Amino acid sequence: MLSSTNDSADYEPLKSSYTDLDAEYDTSDVAPSQTIKRPLRRIVIILAIVVQVVFDFLVIANAIYDTVFARLFALRPIFDEYSASAFIAPAQDALEYQTYKFDSGFGTGSTIYQGEPSDSVDQAWEDLYSFGILEVPRSQAALMVNNTRPIPGKEGYYITELDVFHELHCLNVIRQKLSPEYYGQNMTRLHKSLMRPDHISHCIDSIRQSLMCSSDISTIVWVWEEDTHTAKPSGTVLHSCRDFDKLRDWAKEHHISVHFDDSVYMEDDLSIPVIP
Ligand SMILES: *[C@@H]1O[C@H](CO)[C@@H](O)[C@H](O)[C@H]1NC(C)=O
Ligand SMILES: *[C@@H]1O[C@H](CO)[C@@H](O)[C@H](O)[C@H]1NC(C)=O
Repeated sequence: MLSSTNDSADYEPLKSSYTDLDAEYDTSDVAPSQTIKRPLRRIVIILAIVVQVVFDFLVIANAIYDTVFARLFALRPIFDEYSASAFIAPAQDALEYQTYKFDSGFGTGSTIYQGEPSDSVDQAWEDLYSFGILEVPRSQAALMVNNTRPIPGKEGYYITELDVFHELHCLNVIRQKLSPEYYGQNMTRLHKSLMRPDHISHCIDSIRQSLMCSSDISTIVWVWEEDTHTAKPSGTVLHSCRDFDKLRDWAKEHHISVHFDDSVYMEDDLSIPVIP
Protein backbone atom coordinates (compact mmCIF):
# COMPACT_ATOMS: atom_id res chain seq x y z
CA MET A 1 0.00 0.00 0.00
CA LEU A 2 2.85 2.38 0.81
CA SER A 3 4.55 1.79 -2.56
CA SER A 4 5.90 4.83 -4.33
CA THR A 5 3.24 4.51 -7.03
CA ASN A 6 0.47 4.75 -4.48
CA ASP A 7 2.24 7.60 -2.74
CA SER A 8 2.39 9.63 -5.87
CA ALA A 9 -1.27 8.81 -6.51
CA ASP A 10 -2.11 10.09 -3.02
CA TYR A 11 -0.32 13.30 -3.63
CA GLU A 12 -1.86 13.76 -7.06
CA PRO A 13 -4.66 16.14 -6.04
CA LEU A 14 -2.26 18.28 -4.05
CA LYS A 15 0.17 18.42 -6.97
CA SER A 16 -2.56 19.37 -9.41
CA SER A 17 -3.72 22.20 -7.18
CA TYR A 18 -0.19 23.50 -6.99
CA THR A 19 -0.09 23.15 -10.74
CA ASP A 20 -3.24 25.27 -10.99
CA LEU A 21 -1.65 27.86 -8.77
CA ASP A 22 1.55 27.71 -10.84
CA ALA A 23 -0.50 28.13 -14.00
CA GLU A 24 -2.13 31.20 -12.51
CA TYR A 25 1.25 32.69 -11.84
CA ASP A 26 2.80 31.37 -15.02
CA THR A 27 3.95 34.60 -16.63
CA SER A 28 5.83 33.17 -19.56
CA ASP A 29 3.38 34.70 -22.03
CA VAL A 30 1.70 37.56 -20.19
CA ALA A 31 2.08 41.23 -20.93
CA PRO A 32 4.66 43.34 -18.98
CA SER A 33 1.90 45.29 -17.16
CA GLN A 34 0.55 42.07 -15.67
CA THR A 35 4.07 41.05 -14.65
CA ILE A 36 4.33 44.23 -12.60
CA LYS A 37 1.03 43.50 -10.76
CA ARG A 38 2.10 39.95 -9.95
CA PRO A 39 3.80 40.57 -6.54
CA LEU A 40 0.84 42.72 -5.43
CA ARG A 41 -1.68 39.99 -6.34
CA ARG A 42 0.40 37.46 -4.47
CA ILE A 43 0.51 39.70 -1.39
CA VAL A 44 -3.26 40.24 -1.53
CA ILE A 45 -3.91 36.50 -1.83
CA ILE A 46 -1.51 35.65 1.00
CA LEU A 47 -3.06 38.40 3.10
CA ALA A 48 -6.56 37.02 2.39
CA ILE A 49 -5.43 33.54 3.38
CA VAL A 50 -3.85 34.85 6.58
CA VAL A 51 -7.02 36.80 7.46
CA GLN A 52 -9.15 33.70 6.74
CA VAL A 53 -6.91 31.47 8.87
CA VAL A 54 -6.86 33.97 11.76
CA PHE A 55 -10.65 34.36 11.54
CA ASP A 56 -11.22 30.58 11.50
CA PHE A 57 -8.84 30.22 14.42
CA LEU A 58 -10.75 32.81 16.45
CA VAL A 59 -14.12 31.19 15.69
CA ILE A 60 -12.85 27.73 16.65
CA ALA A 61 -10.99 29.04 19.72
CA ASN A 62 -14.11 30.87 20.86
CA ALA A 63 -16.22 27.73 20.46
CA ILE A 64 -13.67 25.66 22.37
CA TYR A 65 -13.46 28.29 25.09
CA ASP A 66 -17.25 28.42 25.42
CA THR A 67 -17.75 24.68 25.60
CA VAL A 68 -14.67 23.45 27.41
CA PHE A 69 -12.44 26.05 29.00
CA ALA A 70 -15.11 28.38 30.35
CA ARG A 71 -16.46 25.45 32.36
CA LEU A 72 -13.00 24.33 33.34
CA PHE A 73 -11.98 27.79 34.55
CA ALA A 74 -15.35 28.35 36.15
CA LEU A 75 -14.96 25.15 38.16
CA ARG A 76 -11.41 26.06 39.18
CA PRO A 77 -12.19 28.15 42.25
CA ILE A 78 -14.15 25.35 43.89
CA PHE A 79 -11.57 22.66 43.19
CA ASP A 80 -8.62 24.93 44.02
CA GLU A 81 -10.02 26.34 47.24
CA TYR A 82 -11.66 23.27 48.71
CA SER A 83 -10.07 20.39 46.80
CA ALA A 84 -11.08 16.93 48.01
CA SER A 85 -12.08 18.17 51.45
CA ALA A 86 -15.10 19.92 49.91
CA PHE A 87 -16.72 16.59 49.31
CA ILE A 88 -16.19 15.22 52.81
CA ALA A 89 -17.30 18.30 54.76
CA PRO A 90 -18.82 18.28 57.31
CA ALA A 91 -18.33 14.58 58.22
CA GLN A 92 -14.60 14.35 57.47
CA ASP A 93 -13.67 13.42 61.06
CA ALA A 94 -16.01 10.44 60.96
CA LEU A 95 -14.67 9.11 57.67
CA GLU A 96 -12.92 5.77 58.05
CA TYR A 97 -12.66 2.58 56.05
CA GLN A 98 -13.68 -0.83 57.26
CA THR A 99 -13.84 -4.28 55.71
CA TYR A 100 -17.34 -5.73 55.61
CA LYS A 101 -18.51 -9.12 54.40
CA PHE A 102 -21.81 -8.84 52.54
CA ASP A 103 -24.76 -11.07 53.43
CA SER A 104 -26.24 -13.14 50.64
CA GLY A 105 -29.81 -12.09 51.41
CA PHE A 106 -30.97 -15.66 50.72
CA GLY A 107 -32.17 -18.19 53.31
CA THR A 108 -29.87 -18.22 56.35
CA GLY A 109 -28.03 -15.25 54.81
CA SER A 110 -31.15 -13.08 55.18
CA THR A 111 -30.98 -9.91 57.26
CA ILE A 112 -33.24 -8.06 59.67
CA TYR A 113 -34.06 -5.65 56.82
CA GLN A 114 -35.79 -8.40 54.86
CA GLY A 115 -38.88 -10.50 55.30
CA GLU A 116 -42.59 -9.87 55.72
CA PRO A 117 -43.38 -6.29 56.79
CA SER A 118 -43.54 -5.96 60.57
CA ASP A 119 -42.82 -3.47 63.31
CA SER A 120 -39.36 -4.95 63.81
CA VAL A 121 -38.46 -4.75 60.12
CA ASP A 122 -39.71 -1.14 60.05
CA GLN A 123 -37.67 -0.34 63.16
CA ALA A 124 -34.52 -1.85 61.67
CA TRP A 125 -34.86 0.39 58.62
CA GLU A 126 -35.70 3.50 60.66
CA ASP A 127 -32.58 2.93 62.76
CA LEU A 128 -30.49 3.34 59.61
CA TYR A 129 -31.47 6.92 58.86
CA SER A 130 -34.19 8.45 61.05
CA PHE A 131 -31.63 10.83 62.67
CA GLY A 132 -30.42 11.95 59.22
CA ILE A 133 -31.39 15.64 59.33
CA LEU A 134 -28.41 17.42 60.90
CA GLU A 135 -27.21 20.72 62.30
CA VAL A 136 -23.63 21.73 61.55
CA PRO A 137 -21.72 24.82 62.69
CA ARG A 138 -21.10 27.65 60.24
CA SER A 139 -17.39 26.73 60.02
CA GLN A 140 -18.38 23.36 58.55
CA ALA A 141 -21.19 24.73 56.39
CA ALA A 142 -18.59 27.06 54.85
CA LEU A 143 -16.50 24.05 53.73
CA MET A 144 -19.38 22.41 51.89
CA VAL A 145 -19.62 22.46 48.07
CA ASN A 146 -23.11 23.98 48.26
CA ASN A 147 -24.86 26.65 50.24
CA THR A 148 -27.44 25.44 52.72
CA ARG A 149 -29.85 27.33 54.99
CA PRO A 150 -29.27 28.60 58.53
CA ILE A 151 -31.54 27.04 61.16
CA PRO A 152 -34.07 29.50 62.65
CA GLY A 153 -33.70 29.53 66.43
CA LYS A 154 -30.26 27.91 66.40
CA GLU A 155 -27.84 30.71 65.69
CA GLY A 156 -24.65 29.81 63.84
CA TYR A 157 -25.95 26.40 62.74
CA TYR A 158 -26.96 25.17 59.31
CA ILE A 159 -29.22 22.34 58.18
CA THR A 160 -27.90 19.45 56.10
CA GLU A 161 -28.18 15.68 55.59
CA LEU A 162 -25.53 13.19 54.52
CA ASP A 163 -26.75 11.66 51.28
CA VAL A 164 -26.24 8.08 52.50
CA PHE A 165 -29.18 8.59 54.89
CA HIS A 166 -31.31 10.02 52.10
CA GLU A 167 -30.56 7.01 49.89
CA LEU A 168 -31.49 4.61 52.70
CA HIS A 169 -34.75 6.48 53.23
CA CYS A 170 -35.41 6.14 49.49
CA LEU A 171 -34.72 2.41 49.49
CA ASN A 172 -37.07 1.95 52.45
CA VAL A 173 -39.84 3.84 50.68
CA ILE A 174 -39.45 1.57 47.63
CA ARG A 175 -39.54 -1.46 49.94
CA GLN A 176 -42.79 -0.21 51.49
CA LYS A 177 -44.26 0.48 48.06
CA LEU A 178 -43.88 -3.26 47.33
CA SER A 179 -46.32 -4.10 50.17
CA PRO A 180 -49.33 -1.85 49.61
CA GLU A 181 -51.59 -4.29 51.48
CA TYR A 182 -49.53 -3.59 54.62
CA TYR A 183 -48.35 -0.01 54.20
CA GLY A 184 -51.34 1.26 52.20
CA GLN A 185 -53.50 1.35 55.35
CA ASN A 186 -53.88 4.45 57.53
CA MET A 187 -51.15 6.42 55.77
CA THR A 188 -50.46 9.96 56.95
CA ARG A 189 -50.48 12.75 54.34
CA LEU A 190 -46.67 12.77 54.39
CA HIS A 191 -46.47 9.00 53.96
CA LYS A 192 -48.96 9.18 51.08
CA SER A 193 -46.85 11.78 49.27
CA LEU A 194 -43.72 9.64 49.77
CA MET A 195 -45.55 6.76 48.05
CA ARG A 196 -46.49 8.85 45.00
CA PRO A 197 -45.09 7.47 41.72
CA ASP A 198 -42.97 10.60 41.11
CA HIS A 199 -41.29 10.27 44.51
CA ILE A 200 -40.68 6.54 44.01
CA SER A 201 -39.23 7.34 40.59
CA HIS A 202 -36.99 10.03 42.13
CA CYS A 203 -35.82 7.49 44.72
CA ILE A 204 -34.96 4.84 42.14
CA ASP A 205 -32.97 7.31 40.11
CA SER A 206 -31.23 8.72 43.16
CA ILE A 207 -30.11 5.24 44.20
CA ARG A 208 -28.95 4.59 40.63
CA GLN A 209 -26.74 7.69 40.76
CA SER A 210 -25.48 6.87 44.21
CA LEU A 211 -24.46 3.35 43.16
CA MET A 212 -22.74 4.66 40.06
CA CYS A 213 -21.06 7.39 42.12
CA SER A 214 -19.55 4.96 44.60
CA SER A 215 -18.91 2.31 41.90
CA ASP A 216 -18.08 -0.56 44.24
CA ILE A 217 -15.45 -2.64 42.44
CA SER A 218 -15.48 -5.52 44.92
CA THR A 219 -15.55 -8.78 43.03
CA ILE A 220 -18.47 -11.21 42.80
CA VAL A 221 -17.10 -14.75 42.52
CA TRP A 222 -18.39 -18.01 41.09
CA VAL A 223 -18.58 -20.95 43.48
CA TRP A 224 -18.92 -24.64 42.60
CA GLU A 225 -22.10 -26.10 44.07
CA GLU A 226 -21.78 -29.84 44.66
CA ASP A 227 -25.52 -30.53 44.98
CA THR A 228 -26.45 -28.93 41.64
CA HIS A 229 -23.06 -29.53 39.97
CA THR A 230 -22.92 -25.97 38.70
CA ALA A 231 -20.82 -22.88 39.25
CA LYS A 232 -23.00 -20.12 40.74
CA PRO A 233 -22.18 -16.43 41.39
CA SER A 234 -21.86 -15.41 45.02
CA GLY A 235 -21.64 -11.97 46.60
CA THR A 236 -20.69 -13.05 50.15
CA VAL A 237 -17.25 -11.51 49.72
CA LEU A 238 -15.25 -8.83 51.50
CA HIS A 239 -15.81 -5.18 50.59
CA SER A 240 -13.76 -2.15 51.55
CA CYS A 241 -16.39 0.32 52.74
CA ARG A 242 -16.73 3.65 54.44
CA ASP A 243 -17.44 2.77 58.07
CA PHE A 244 -21.21 3.22 58.22
CA ASP A 245 -21.45 2.70 61.98
CA LYS A 246 -19.00 5.51 62.57
CA LEU A 247 -20.91 7.84 60.25
CA ARG A 248 -24.16 6.86 61.95
CA ASP A 249 -22.72 7.71 65.37
CA TRP A 250 -21.42 11.01 64.04
CA ALA A 251 -24.81 11.84 62.50
CA LYS A 252 -26.63 11.01 65.74
CA GLU A 253 -24.33 13.47 67.56
CA HIS A 254 -25.26 16.13 64.99
CA HIS A 255 -28.97 15.32 64.78
CA ILE A 256 -30.91 18.58 64.54
CA SER A 257 -31.90 19.67 68.05
CA VAL A 258 -34.73 22.08 67.17
CA HIS A 259 -37.81 21.89 64.97
CA PHE A 260 -36.78 23.27 61.56
CA ASP A 261 -39.37 25.86 60.59
CA ASP A 262 -38.95 25.90 56.81
CA SER A 263 -41.21 28.96 56.42
CA VAL A 264 -38.82 31.33 58.24
CA TYR A 265 -36.48 33.28 55.96
CA MET A 266 -33.07 33.83 57.54
CA GLU A 267 -30.65 36.53 56.36
CA ASP A 268 -27.34 34.84 55.60
CA ASP A 269 -23.96 36.19 54.54
CA LEU A 270 -22.33 32.80 54.01
CA SER A 271 -21.91 32.49 50.28
CA ILE A 272 -20.39 29.60 48.37
CA PRO A 273 -20.06 30.33 44.64
CA VAL A 274 -22.57 28.42 42.50
CA ILE A 275 -21.49 26.88 39.21
CA PRO A 276 -24.49 26.13 36.99
C1 LIG B 1 -56.10 1.37 60.46
O1 LIG B 1 -57.01 2.08 61.23
C2 LIG B 1 -58.13 1.30 61.63
C3 LIG B 1 -59.11 2.21 62.36
O2 LIG B 1 -58.45 3.15 63.19
C4 LIG B 1 -57.66 0.15 62.50
O3 LIG B 1 -58.77 -0.67 62.90
C5 LIG B 1 -56.67 -0.72 61.72
O4 LIG B 1 -56.13 -1.72 62.54
C6 LIG B 1 -55.55 0.16 61.19
N1 LIG B 1 -54.68 -0.63 60.31
C7 LIG B 1 -53.37 -0.67 60.44
C8 LIG B 1 -52.63 -1.55 59.49
O5 LIG B 1 -52.75 0.00 61.26
C1 LIG C 1 -24.43 22.85 44.12
O1 LIG C 1 -23.20 23.33 43.59
C2 LIG C 1 -22.99 23.04 42.26
C3 LIG C 1 -21.61 23.59 41.92
O2 LIG C 1 -21.53 24.95 42.21
C4 LIG C 1 -24.09 23.65 41.40
O3 LIG C 1 -23.89 23.30 40.07
C5 LIG C 1 -25.43 23.15 41.89
O4 LIG C 1 -26.47 23.75 41.14
C6 LIG C 1 -25.59 23.46 43.35
N1 LIG C 1 -26.88 22.94 43.84
C7 LIG C 1 -27.65 23.61 44.68
C8 LIG C 1 -28.93 22.94 45.10
O5 LIG C 1 -27.36 24.71 45.12
